[in-house]
Parts: sequence; structure tokens; C-alpha cells
Amino acid sequence: MLAKIVTIGRNSLKRHNFSVMAEKALLRFKEKDYQKQSESVRTWCAAHAMSCDDFMRSLDLKLYEETQAAAAEIERHCRLKLSTIELDLGGGGNYPLLYFLVRYLQPENVIETGVAAGWSSQAMLTALAKNDGDGKLYSSDFPYFRYEEPEKLVGFVVDESFKSRWRLFIEGDKFNLPAIMKETGAVDLFHYDSDKSYSGRRFAYETVRKKLSDRAVVIFDDIQDNFHFRDFVTAQDVPFCVFEFEGKYIGLTGSIVKDA
Ligand SMILES: C[S@@+](CC[C@H](N)C(=O)[O-])C[C@H]1O[C@@H](n2cnc3c(N)ncnc32)[C@H](O)[C@@H]1O
Repeated sequence: MLAKIVTIGRNSLKRHNFSVMAEKALLRFKEKDYQKQSESVRTWCAAHAMSCDDFMRSLDLKLYEETQAAAAEIERHCRLKLSTIELDLGGGGNYPLLYFLVRYLQPENVIETGVAAGWSSQAMLTALAKNDGDGKLYSSDFPYFRYEEPEKLVGFVVDESFKSRWRLFIEGDKFNLPAIMKETGAVDLFHYDSDKSYSGRRFAYETVRKKLSDRAVVIFDDIQDNFHFRDFVTAQDVPFCVFEFEGKYIGLTGSIVKDA
């Protein structure tokens, strides 16, 4: 226990880490009232949820079948890599959907927030490589500070051969996203899976929106945490989908919703 506290303390002193950690703690306190809404948020999500498999099948049946095979291989690869370390880096997002979307949209640039072990990164990079273009993935993360040298664990499962089309930023969304905006061109896919707070989600979208293309798809993971996604689609007045994945919910918006 003491060793863990010392590790966290030491890690927090590196770069901007202390300011990011302090902000996260402050937001948790400021947004504690949102936790009281968690039951009604889940009710809203469940009422709007549809099958993600049906969604993919209706867009492209052949690609859906390719996705099934690719997802099985991604899972095998990630589990094998993770079996070489005895650390809990958490589970992945809906990587089959992310693989499918990268193949379907053929994006030039993709942004994701939240990497951890890197299931979502590995899935999107696998799809970008299969697309055979110059597509790039920009990922924003903030390492898990309970471990020694946590920077080395970010994207641990990502295949070495994909790294030429991957830009990884690890100083927290607040610093990473403005830096990514300076580098990237138009973005066709944005996947949010980092800081679960309402304001973290709002900040990220407001930062990346200037670069979103007309056909961009935007995904928020873990939308059962608060009413951000409901408020977002209401304010934007855009079509949306909600999918259940491993007991949690994902929200998706973009013009492809109308095609499905
Ligand atoms: C649920 S995990 C991401 C899982 C990943 N998308 C996957 O599919 O494997 C969330 C990640 O977001 C990171 N995170 C939390 N707060 C963050 C912040 N403010 N900025 C950037 N990353 C953050 C966590 O450290 C963790 O690595």
C-alpha cells in the first residue's frame, strides 16, 4: 500500500501530471451530483439502445463478416500480449465496432481519447493498415499512475508494425488534444473513452469539433456515467444510436446513422 502511494506521488511530479490529477479530483468532487442521476441515465440509455451487430450488418453485411474474423484475431493478439504481464490495465472499448467504422469510413485521420492497454488503438490501426492508405491514428491518454514507469504500459498491446501511422500523446486530454489539433488534418472518426466526467467530454468535443469533417462519426464510450450524451445530441439536434457493450453503453452520432 505504502509502495503504491509512493509510486503515485513520484509519477504525479512528472511533467504536467500533477495539474491533470488535481483537475480530475476536483471534477469528481464538483460533479458528484451527477452520480445521483446514474439510475435515470441508465434508463435513458436502455430505452434508446439497439443492437450494434444489426447496425453494422445494415451498413455493410460483407464488412460485418470481415469484422467478426478481424475482431477474433484482435482479441487473440491482445490477450496473448497481456498474458506476458501481471498487471490489470482494464478492458477495451467496443473494438469490433471501431474496426468496422475505420474500414467503412476509410478515414484519413482518426482521433481517440483513452488508450490504456490499447485494444481500441490496436483495432483501429489494424483496420487502417488493411485500408492500405495513409490513414493515421492520434491517441490521447494519461497513464495509470499506480504502476512504475506507467508510460511504457500505454498501448502495450499495440503491434510494433503499426507504430508508423500512430501518434500517441500521454499528458492528458487537456494538453494532448490542443497539440493533436495542430498536427491533424480533417478528422473522420472521433472516439472518446478517457476522462468520464461531463466537462471532460464537453472540453474534448469542443476542442476537436473544428477539425471534424462533414461525414465525421463521433462516439462517446460509457455514456451511462452522466447525461452528457443525451444533452449533446439534443443540443446538436443530430440523429444518434446507443449500443450496449459489456453492461455499459456507447453513443454514436454522424450522418451514417441515417444510412443504417
Ligand atoms: C477505459 S480506458 C481506455 C480503454 C481503451 N479505449 C481501449 O479500448 O483499450 C480509459 C483510459 O483513459 C485514460 N484517462 C483518464 N483520464 C484521462 C484524461 N484526462 N486525459 C487522457 N486520458 C485519460 C485512463 O488513464 C485510461 O488509460
